[in-house]
Amino acid sequence: MQRSNDYAPVHKQSDPPCFRKSKTEGKWPEVEEALRKLTEVQQKAMGGKSKPGKRNPRETIEALLDPGTFVEVNMFARHRCTDFGLDKKELLGDGVITGYGEVHGRKVFLYAQDFSVMGGSLGAAHAKKICNIMDLAAKAGAPVIGLLDSGGARIQEGTDSLGGYGDIFFRNVRLSGVIPQITAIMGICAGGAVYSPALTDFIFQVNDSGLMFITGPDVVAEVTGQEISKEELGGAHIHTKITGNADFFSENDQHCVEQIRLLLGYISPNCKSKAPRAQCTDDPNRKDETLLGILPQNTRRGFDMHKIINLIVDDRRFFEVKANFARNIICGFARMDGRTVGIVANQPLVYNGVLDCDSSDKAARFIRFCDAFNIPLLTLVDIPGYMPGVKEEYKGIIRHGSKMLYAYSEATVPKITVIIRKAYGGAYVAMCSKHLGADLVLAWPSAEVAVMGPEGAVNIIYRKELEAAENRDQVKQEKVQEYRDKFANPYDAAFRQHIDDVIDPRDTRPRIIGALKMLEDKEEFTPWKRHGNMPV
Ligand code: HXC
Repeated sequence: MQRSNDYAPVHKQSDPPCFRKSKTEGKWPEVEEALRKLTEVQQKAMGGKSKPGKRNPRETIEALLDPGTFVEVNMFARHRCTDFGLDKKELLGDGVITGYGEVHGRKVFLYAQDFSVMGGSLGAAHAKKICNIMDLAAKAGAPVIGLLDSGGARIQEGTDSLGGYGDIFFRNVRLSGVIPQITAIMGICAGGAVYSPALTDFIFQVNDSGLMFITGPDVVAEVTGQEISKEELGGAHIHTKITGNADFFSENDQHCVEQIRLLLGYISPNCKSKAPRAQCTDDPNRKDETLLGILPQNTRRGFDMHKIINLIVDDRRFFEVKANFARNIICGFARMDGRTVGIVANQPLVYNGVLDCDSSDKAARFIRFCDAFNIPLLTLVDIPGYMPGVKEEYKGIIRHGSKMLYAYSEATVPKITVIIRKAYGGAYVAMCSKHLGADLVLAWPSAEVAVMGPEGAVNIIYRKELEAAENRDQVKQEKVQEYRDKFANPYDAAFRQHIDDVIDPRDTRPRIIGALKMLEDKEEFTPWKRHGNMPV
């Protein structure tokens, strides 16, 4: 056997016709010329110059991904529109950079719009590039991230632009619950450029530069006569506090990419996989004495639920979603013994933690995300009820409030509930009670499970007796005490198996971690249907 010939080709292949060797041995002038041309076109396709003081989208991509992992796709795509002088504009890349790379060593797909190319406006080629990357992300089962900076539909391309948006919306919806979809609003986003983000799972909005509106201030002034600045109409403060359209407030571009990386660390890459489990250095059996001193003596006083969350999760790390919107409910991700959990908790510091239209909306959407992507739900309860009042009734609290019932009942991921203090009325049921399919309901000894608070209840059920009594105050006090003895503790509900166990608050972390382990391979069977019809 001649070792030197082992790897020789069976048939001698001639050089490809376009790349013939030159007479000077070892030189390939056609190849060199072709490569020079490629570099020239690539440079053209790199996009326009960045705006003064604004990050170039390529730099944003670099900051977002693990170093050296970005692979660009469809760099040479260009529009084919000949109207309104566009035939004279060669826009290689067509104002959007698309490709894939890695974050924390895991695959992600992305697109980044380039405002320097016709205001990042979306025409047919631009849309096709985005659709292609979304399709690839779906096939690969990995998250897709859009970095947006766009004036909306490219006006010159007419219906092709509108159709392009439609194609993106269609994919946003079809892929909803299949792969996580994340949007960052980094520049002015108007018209069609804001509908697609609204269909994605999470929106990050950059302070000052990031703006979102259907129609800008000029149109608002023209149609309604109201003068308003861009920031007041659709700035990051507005959308993270008032409208709830955006989930995360980013101080600047760098903060935004750091937050996206953080989020990606918590969530699963697709609906079939679990979230990655992290190394845990925080003792899973840690019992925190501080938990005993958190609740105020007076049960009518509020306390900060963040304190409890921070004490029970790994390394006190909690990544809050919609932190400034509907603050009476807290939603966010944390890890417990390295496993991701989605936490939903009442915040007694804000409106006593009652459920209203906005907080129900916020929590229902978060619950559905967790359920879609295999993230167990941990619910911490201290709630006196749904918000009473004309304002909320007229806003549709019946419809919005029922979203919580729907989302929890629909969720089949592990569901663990801890009743910390009050769990009253419909809100008790709504906060992932046993009746909505909680797998395990634990309660602190301070828990009170009842239809309503003692004073309110006595006023209703003993109204006639109280009216007739000479010593009204004394009778009332006795009746309140009687009610308290019965319901202002967790035991009546535990006797009836609405609560599975009453625990020492210091055991909260180990007990939840144990339950997550016990439920790791949970399977739940639901009746066949096309899909449910959640109240919206
Ligand atoms: C084509 C556009 C464009 C657009 C901006 N440009 N938006 N080109 N189509 N939609 C171009 C501008 O002509 C300009 O080109 C460059 O981008 C920068 O724009 P400026 O106006 O100079 O920038 P700025 O002052 O910062 O204002 C940004 C802006 C403004 C607020 C976004 O451009 C604007 O109002 N654009 C239109 C926004 C809009 O109404 N979009 C809705 C489209 S309809 P030159 O060559 O001068 O640099 C829609 C509906 C879709 O989206 C519905 C789907 C179902």
